Formats: sequence, C-alpha cells, structure tokens
Amino acid sequence: MPALTANPSDALQGDCRPPGDKSISHRALMLGAVCVGETDIAGLLEGEDVLATAAAMRALGAEVERGSDGLWRVRGRGIGGLAEPDDVLDMGNSGTGARLLLGLLASHPVTAVLTGDASLRGRPMARVVDPLTAAGASFVTRAGGRLPITVQGARAAMPLDYRLPVASAQVKSAVLLAGLNAPGQTRVIEPTATRDHTERMLGHFGAELAIEAGDAGEPVICLTGQPELTACSLRVPADPSSAAFPLVAALLLPGSKVRLAGVGINPCRIGLIDTLREMGADIRFENVRETSGEPVADIVAVAGELRGIEVPAERAPSMIDEYPVLAMAAAVAEGRSVMRGLGELRVKESDRLAVVAEGLRICGVAVEEEPDTLIVEGCGGRPPGGGNKAIPTHLDHRIAMSFLVLGLASERPVSIDDSQPIETSFPGFVSLLRGLGADIVAA
Ligand code: S3P
Repeated sequence: MPALTANPSDALQGDCRPPGDKSISHRALMLGAVCVGETDIAGLLEGEDVLATAAAMRALGAEVERGSDGLWRVRGRGIGGLAEPDDVLDMGNSGTGARLLLGLLASHPVTAVLTGDASLRGRPMARVVDPLTAAGASFVTRAGGRLPITVQGARAAMPLDYRLPVASAQVKSAVLLAGLNAPGQTRVIEPTATRDHTERMLGHFGAELAIEAGDAGEPVICLTGQPELTACSLRVPADPSSAAFPLVAALLLPGSKVRLAGVGINPCRIGLIDTLREMGADIRFENVRETSGEPVADIVAVAGELRGIEVPAERAPSMIDEYPVLAMAAAVAEGRSVMRGLGELRVKESDRLAVVAEGLRICGVAVEEEPDTLIVEGCGGRPPGGGNKAIPTHLDHRIAMSFLVLGLASERPVSIDDSQPIETSFPGFVSLLRGLGADIVAA
C-alpha cells in the first residue's frame, strides 16, 4: 500500500462516526459462533483483523454472513460445537483474534493450526498457552511460544482457577472462553482491572457470571461452565481506540471542533480521555447511553493548549493502545510528559516504545526511552515535523495513524512508509480525516 503524507493542516470541523470497536467485534463473532440460533450484529468493525476472525469462525463451522443491510448474522453451533477446520487459520495481524481463539479451541476436541503475519508470528503466546495447557489442551509452538501454533483441544476440559500474572484482557478472555466448555466454575483472579468486554457480553448472551472478592479484595470473575448461550442482537459501539486519532488531531489543531458519534466510553477504556483532560483538553460527553451492555456517548473535542503530564503506571491498562497517539499530543504540548509502566508496549503489533521514540526523533522531538518509560519533551506548539525520512511503521496500524496525526500538527509534513496496516482496525481512516479538513495525500 502507498506511503502517505500528512501536511500541516488548519482547524478540523464536523461530525463523524469512527468504525466499530475491534475488541467487541472479535468477541461478538466468537460468542455468536457458540450460541444456538442466530445473532445479528450491527456496527461490526469491517477491518482486516475482524474479517480474519469471521473467516476463522466460518472455517470452524459457524455460518457468518454480512447482509446487504450491513448487519452481520452469525448462526452458531452451540457450546462445544465448533468443528475441526480443514486448513490453517490465518489470524492476520491480530493478537486478540489469535489469543481468544486459542482459548475457545482449548476446550473443543479438535486440532487446529493458527498462524498470522510477520508481526503476529513474533508476539508471545505462552501467556495463553500456559493456562490453557493446565485446562487440558495440548500445544506445539515455535521457539519462544510463537505462532504458528497447533492446538489440540481437550476432550474433557477442566475449569481453571487462574490468577492473571500480566494485566491482559486477552489472557483473561482466553481463560473465560475455554471455561465455556468446561464443567463447573472457571475463576479468574484479576489483580489489575483490564477491559471487561468479554464479561459484559457473556452476560448479554445469558451466561452465569459473577464478580466476587478475592482474599486480598481483588476481583475474581466466576463463570459457570457449559451454559446455554442465547442468540441475541448486538450493536457494536464506535471504537474509543480509533476515535482517539481524530480526537487528538482536533485537540492539536487550533480552532477545531469535532463531534465523534456513538463512541464506547467503558471506564476500562478511557484512560486517554482522563489523561488529555488533565493536560487541559476540552472533551465533553453528550447523549450518554447504553447499548448492548456497553456505555456509549457522542464525544465533542475542542482544540486548546495542552501541557505536559506524568501518566501513572496504574493507568496503563485503561489506555494501553493509546500511548502512541498520546505521545503525539505530548510532542505538541507545553513541557515534559512522562509515561510510566509501559513494558507491555514492547510486545504489541510492534515494539511501540522503541518505534514511537524512533519516529519522534525523525520529527525533531526530543524523547527518552527507558525500559518501561517514555519521556517526551513537548515543543509548546508545532514540532518541526518529518525530515526527508518516512516514519517506519513496522506493520503497526497505530504507529501509522499516530504519525499522520502528528504531521497535521507539525511545521513540515510527516510521511509514513506504509499505510496498509491501517486497514486492520480503521478502514476509511484517511477519508474520515479528510472529511474533517485534514490534508493527507499519497506520498
Ligand atoms: C485487547 C486487549 C489488549 C489490547 C488489544 C485488544 C482485547 O491487549 O492491547 O488491542 O481485545 O482484549 P492485552 O490483553 O495484550 O493487553
């Protein structure tokens, strides 16, 4: 896909609807596939990551179709009913797709092989393989627990009592999905809260799920296995992680006012908004409502001056995907920003700590990278922008979009080397931003 250039732009104005939530879209397809009956899904993200999950669920025997009305319909096979796939399941770029599917397959008596693109094949999978092995599944992985992985699901899975060693909604969800086809109670102890879309959606589908207090008062998610999930209608909110790009662009370009319609504001996902407000941003929630068990709002962002900030490590799980775009806001803000507790960023679609630091340096922004901390010296206005080197995106959609946002707010244009990764999570990114007034062109 072509390289792109973001030119310094004037104020952004207007209304838009960012695409459907990626986390919720994966879960809707997977849970729909293990229900009895037909689930219809409105607003599903039609990005490559989710389309890979849709293809995988089809390969496992579920009927998955997009109607001409834009609704996705999933006819499920019931708990434990997934069939053995004929071929390798290619999960593309998606860690969520791969890890959640390994969980679901761990309690099905089938053999499947999962792979993905070069980025996904480099990401750690032992974090799900270890607990799922304890549930009775067998795995053959490449060195370091990497994909491609062969999973042989348990004939009679055991329910786990598992304490999460890493703050990861993907690991939590993999264990819960495996627990769907295990008898008795699966318990996940979660010392640090992470996004709870799986729990909310399981409740929406009629599973028996309770949150209890553990020995040290930490939440314990208790799922009763082998429920009869009831097919239902789901409406997927717009993704706050995608909304973050037009939101930050609007905050950084003086005179801007942008309304983002129908965005998820689940408290486990809005650490970026809390942080930007602490930096001085004017962000309002309007028309707050609930859809399919998830809180949603229209978000209005108005440009203004931002000041640097210290982001505490405890906030990382609620904004884990938003640090690249926060770093762009920090580059424009007045003063220094310090973001701590970012070790997990090193095992995302790219090593986001290193890649953000590399890109900011190319754009003339002073930055320090420590093992799990990023320090950005704000320019107090437009940063210099790209030199003659395009930002290397390393197959990472959020790196690509973040640096395009920075280009809009810089003195000189910023180019990225590859726009293809954007298709994984935000099809229509360039046209949505252009519709608000952003100047993004082929490089
Ligand atoms: C996700 C969880 C997060 C996040 C990812 C989506 C999910 O990953 O970074 O983009 O849908 O559960 P981790 O669980 O690895 O933190």
